[in-house]
Amino acid sequence: MAEDLSIRSGTKEEKYLSLLPQLKALTSGETDLTANLANITAALKEQFGWLWTGFYLVRGDELVLGPFQGPVACTRIARGRGVCGAAWARKETILVPDVSKFPGHIACSSRSRSEIVVPALRDGEVVAVLDIDSELPGDFDETDRRYLRAIVEGVEFGRE
Ligand code: SME
Repeated sequence: MAEDLSIRSGTKEEKYLSLLPQLKALTSGETDLTANLANITAALKEQFGWLWTGFYLVRGDELVLGPFQGPVACTRIARGRGVCGAAWARKETILVPDVSKFPGHIACSSRSRSEIVVPALRDGEVVAVLDIDSELPGDFDETDRRYLRAIVEGVEFGRE
């Protein structure tokens, strides 16, 4: 595995298309979940430069903070709370163009303006969520939804 990530300029889609095979190469030879989630968040941060990129893992009736890149964040989120807890409860990706308009949004950083949360489902149940915050309003769209979902689906959450 090459340790250096190749950073691509261009459209959002071109960036994701460059990143996807690199993420596969980074994680396919490694069975440790924490190591893989850590590298995925680092690679996303390096390529896109978002404010906060990280995973929360389902632990009982809460989400617990996992590997991330960015400012310190809240460690536990109840099911249904905030954007992360809502994505867990609804079992669907949530795009928030303006975080100030999302009822119950949990502001881990006052710099966050927009957010996307992608749940990872295994056997019909959410096992984790990928949460990304941007300092720009309306920074996430259907392209992010599609490719981030592909990234999350590629993770082997069962191996721990
Ligand atoms: N904003 C999230 C909380 C997590 S932080 O953004 C890292 C939410 O409302 O669930």
